[in-house]
Amino acid sequence: MAFLQHKLLLSSLLIFRIIVEVSSRGAVYTPPSVELLTGRFNHVSVNQGFSVSYGASHVRWINNGSYADLSLDKASGCGLVSKKKYHYGFFSAAIKVPAGFTSGVVVPFYLSNKELFPHNHDEIDFELLGHEKERDWVLQTNMYGNGSVSTGREEKFYLWFDPTAQFHEYSILWNNHHIVFLVDNVPVREIIHNEAISAAYPLKPMSAHATIWDGSQWATHGGKYPVNYRYAPFVASFGEMELEGCILQQNSSTPSCSRSGLSSLDPVEGEEFAKLSQQQITGLEWARGKLMFYSYCKDTSRYKVLPPECNAK
Ligand SMILES: *[C@@H]1O[C@H](CO)[C@@H](O)[C@H](O)[C@H]1NC(C)=O
Ligand SMILES: *[C@@H]1O[C@H](CO)[C@@H](O)[C@H](O)[C@H]1NC(C)=O
Ligand SMILES: *[C@@H]1O[C@H](CO)[C@@H](O)[C@H](O)[C@H]1NC(C)=O
Repeated sequence: MAFLQHKLLLSSLLIFRIIVEVSSRGAVYTPPSVELLTGRFNHVSVNQGFSVSYGASHVRWINNGSYADLSLDKASGCGLVSKKKYHYGFFSAAIKVPAGFTSGVVVPFYLSNKELFPHNHDEIDFELLGHEKERDWVLQTNMYGNGSVSTGREEKFYLWFDPTAQFHEYSILWNNHHIVFLVDNVPVREIIHNEAISAAYPLKPMSAHATIWDGSQWATHGGKYPVNYRYAPFVASFGEMELEGCILQQNSSTPSCSRSGLSSLDPVEGEEFAKLSQQQITGLEWARGKLMFYSYCKDTSRYKVLPPECNAK
């Protein structure tokens, strides 16, 4: 009897696993409708907002610089860096990632101040990770604050669309209240600035970056599938950039704001940016419940003692 129950349990677990795996690969879902935060800010041409940080020969400006194709081949990857540094803001890019065999390829869109503060830098990351045969691109998010690099705070998601077929919007809202990662305006992660996270919360001005590089060492299943340059060049397209925030003046220690007509110092500090709406919370729960498959807060083999914010709520 016990044996039979065990067998039944095993086979239902197997069926469950098959359903989960099938639905996590190549599945297309319709997310709940959310307000279009990206619609509140203006687009800037990629070449207006960014300059080349490395690999200039691998950057191709499209349509007079309103878009940019970043490519990776055996010789090099490349990157863009925002011309300005921001202290809080809203940062968004429409990105289309390369199709085909892309394991080991990493396409990040992120904020960082590593150049300014090499020993206690801040970082807020989107990283699109390529896939080996038949597997979907994975979206990883992470953050470091004040040099907290010994504690990775990664979360990983499958996407509810094919990111190689069209452009999709990847946005970061960062202010004193919270950090929100959004995909096509659906929040997928919120980091609330509370007591528990305060020592690792990004507080210093950062630049925005868009890059493509070889993450063979770690990106796809811990480095099991390195980049295969037979399929190069790998090309990621960026456009519809939004960079809205307090801009750090070169010769001043106080950041000033780029948006006119707002009394608040910070353009994303207002009531509507301080908290998620009920609709956004519904979207957040939907995305996490359906598509998140890794959170550092659940990784007890990595963290014997979980970071403090994992238990605070
Ligand atoms: C191309 O962009 C530059 C500034 O970046 C602008 O002055 C020029 O008018 C643009 N040309 C066209 C054809 O849109
Ligand atoms: C950031 O780290 C430095 C030391 O690296 C420390 O002196 C400072 O107090 C920290 N700041 C915050 C806000 O925790
Ligand atoms: C920064 O320096 C420039 C040139 O030296 C000067 O024109 C400008 O007024 C300065 N701005 C501030 C905020 O001090």
